[in-house]
Amino acid sequence: MASKISVTTRSGDPAETAADTRVIGLAEGIDCAVEPVAKLVQSGELKATFKRVGVAHAHGVRYIAVGLGKPEDFTAERARVAAAIACGRASELGAKSLSWQLPEIGDGATTAGAIVEGTLLKAYKFDRFKSKSGETDDEGDDKNGVESLEIACGEADVAESTAAAAIAAVAVNRARDLQNLPSNVATPSYLADRAAEIAATHENVEFDIHDRAWIENKKMGAFSAVAKGTAEEPRLIVIRYSHPDATGPTLGFVGKAVTFDTGGISLKPSAKMEEMKFDMSGGAAVLEATAAIAELGLPINLISVVPSTENMPSGTATKPGDIVTAYNGKTIEIDNTDAEGRLILADALSYCVELGAERVINLATLTGAIVIALGSTYAGHFSNDDDWYAQVLAASDTTGELGHRLPLHQEFADLIKGKYADITNAPAARKGSSITAAEFLKHFVGDTPWVHVDIAGTAWDMNRPYVGNGASGFGVRMLIELARAHGA
Ligand code: BES
Ligand code: MN
Ligand code: ZN
Repeated sequence: MASKISVTTRSGDPAETAADTRVIGLAEGIDCAVEPVAKLVQSGELKATFKRVGVAHAHGVRYIAVGLGKPEDFTAERARVAAAIACGRASELGAKSLSWQLPEIGDGATTAGAIVEGTLLKAYKFDRFKSKSGETDDEGDDKNGVESLEIACGEADVAESTAAAAIAAVAVNRARDLQNLPSNVATPSYLADRAAEIAATHENVEFDIHDRAWIENKKMGAFSAVAKGTAEEPRLIVIRYSHPDATGPTLGFVGKAVTFDTGGISLKPSAKMEEMKFDMSGGAAVLEATAAIAELGLPINLISVVPSTENMPSGTATKPGDIVTAYNGKTIEIDNTDAEGRLILADALSYCVELGAERVINLATLTGAIVIALGSTYAGHFSNDDDWYAQVLAASDTTGELGHRLPLHQEFADLIKGKYADITNAPAARKGSSITAAEFLKHFVGDTPWVHVDIAGTAWDMNRPYVGNGASGFGVRMLIELARAHGA
């Protein structure tokens, strides 16, 4: 469950806090004025090296000091990491309330937001299926962990960035809940119910939920082909957020939400197949980013489309070699039923553009090859438009949800030409297979500026200090930042 940590800011003297624990960031070459921490540093017990951490006590207050490294190397990402390290130590010590003294290096508003993110993301737990009773978790720490975070900001004005960061971090943790839920709970209908809830709790949000009959009647042949094998009802989820003072082109967010990917008739091997409950991570990120954008009231227009289904083998399943017609009229040879993400995205992308999206971004756990190429450090970025791509790259750099752009090229486009139909979903040669997947998607956006983000390596087990194992909620903060910058 996403733990609820209350987040506040307090001006004035940082020493006058009611919190049980004060957190102090140490920068190399800058003397620390907070007495018990200064003593730790002078004694040589604690260095200001990035990620070092020490604990001191004085006058009934606990101090956690964390190294920030050299001032010139300080970034928002370092603040997130330092905050996560401090929060981890605080939980071990049984701390309930933290007062983080805003460091004097870096931009105050940015650092305050990053501290909030690092703390709330680190404190996330998913334990709703653990029936073990008692006060402690598996590590012997208090189950409830840290309950409040105060940014002691002195005279700096950081209230707005702090509040916005809290909204974003809570949205990331909600996306992580959706990801971590098993496929027998987080079904396409469950995700659709979440969309309805988002629309009911926020202003300027409308939604449409489409079922199997609608998807088939609409002649979304690519999406239908994936859903054919499962008894679980598929859903095409559409959320529109329209702000009365919106400026700029209408954005389109599209997220792959395969709630379980067995591979279909092209069945996956059983090792690690349980991880394929995470194959809805792109959709989860789009849903919760949309919710946060509405909560923040950002002045933009947004159309979010989440195609959701299971990918199962069965007597009704699509078979390798089957040919279908996509919503935009292109014919597709389905040569591998495990390349299902691009099929549901094909119809969702054309539909999103048809609904009026003028700048499109999609998030998808699309290819195993991207994990080999970029690990969990970078997502794969692909685009048909340099200007729109520059906006996406700026957003991902800001939030630390990094991406590396890979090329599109006619030679890759040639690889997905079909033998019997217009295109194939799985070329025989595995050359550049993350790129050929992107070339496939490109067929469904026309001339609309579009970015595809392949999050197969970053959606879970990222091993960042603030998002360890399990779901990472990757992309939620980036989408929110993209919308914020777009509306600014
Ligand atoms: N959901 C998978 C991609 C994936 C694999 C994500 C491992 C995370 C970890 C996707 O649907 C898939 O199966 N892709 C195939 C495509 C191939 C059959 C052309 C792949 O990458 O092997
Ligand atoms: Mn697959
Ligand atoms: Zn998949």
